[in-house]
Amino acid sequence: MAIKYGRPLESQVRVVPAESKGAPRADALDLIHRPRRNRRTDWARRMVRENTLSANDLIWPLFLVDGDNVRIPVPSMPGVERISVDQAVRDAERAAALDIPCLALFPYTDPALRDETGSEALNPENLVCRTVQAIKKAVPDIGLLCDVALDPYTSHGHDGLLADGVILNDETVDVLVRQSVLQADAGCDIIAPSDMMDGRIGAIRQGLDDAGHDAIQIMAYAAKYASCFYGPFRDAVGSSTTLTGDKRTYQMDFCNSDEALREVELDLEEGADMVMVKPGLPYLDIVRRIKDTFSHPTFVYQVSGEYAMIMAAASNGWLDGEKAMVESLMAFKRAGADGILTYFAPRVAEKLKKGRLF
Ligand code: PBG
Repeated sequence: MAIKYGRPLESQVRVVPAESKGAPRADALDLIHRPRRNRRTDWARRMVRENTLSANDLIWPLFLVDGDNVRIPVPSMPGVERISVDQAVRDAERAAALDIPCLALFPYTDPALRDETGSEALNPENLVCRTVQAIKKAVPDIGLLCDVALDPYTSHGHDGLLADGVILNDETVDVLVRQSVLQADAGCDIIAPSDMMDGRIGAIRQGLDDAGHDAIQIMAYAAKYASCFYGPFRDAVGSSTTLTGDKRTYQMDFCNSDEALREVELDLEEGADMVMVKPGLPYLDIVRRIKDTFSHPTFVYQVSGEYAMIMAAASNGWLDGEKAMVESLMAFKRAGADGILTYFAPRVAEKLKKGRLF
């Protein structure tokens, strides 16, 4: 429907009733449509608001470290810490009290346990598996998402097996299937492959089903770009110093958009239950295209560098950090995301619990 934003020509002559209270100024515009009417008061703005944010939209990523009663700040992510298993249980209790539905777990692996093939990923007693078991015991009703990739475990910091400078695809997928099954055995609910190897979703689905884990969901990091915004995360899991080269032979070229649709299509065909776009704010166009094209549950990761930027500007007094947090999260909802992985999860959930966001 084409709307004409003006009065028909013949009625352009303004008739000002002699008695009219608050008669229009002689120089007033002759407008039918004044969009500001719907924004004039707080109640009216709330009434026409198109998107909302609730705790249900949040997934809270946690960084794990060995030890007892340990909380080590991550310098490039103010407010974020590496935490030991007992502390992860505490945060899981906090998340449940805040109605956050799901946690994502990432390990900082002791450098002595890292090797060429990332073998610690296949240790059923590794940090992630132990944390999953402990949280499930203490807080059975919270969702647990486990990342699948080898970068926290390899001495070279890559997500896959490396031979002569090349990341081996099919050999890596084989390891990822085993890593997925171990994490599912430990009790995790969602397997989230973040490695960007070809064919891994189908192989993992098959592997999980064969192991009796047909109820375990898969959230595919389907459109994951080779991004500098992962820098602080690599500090947190300790792979920024180990990483040799970059990840451009497997993560996506940030100049591309159609390619993201093909990646999502493949992952859905291979059995992904949910897909994810990553990073978030610089890739809202991708979120919107994916949601519109596939109508599947679509998640977005507000990654470490996005968090760091807001926190850094806030600590300099250049931005209001709380407002930037809320505005950025709402932008994801507006772009069509069904949920957001964000390091702001506990902070925004606290705010939601106390009342309105703004
Ligand atoms: C590991 C992985 C990364 C992130 C999530 N899983 C880093 C990478 O691919 O190098 C990044 C998350 C963030 O920056 O917050 N494959």
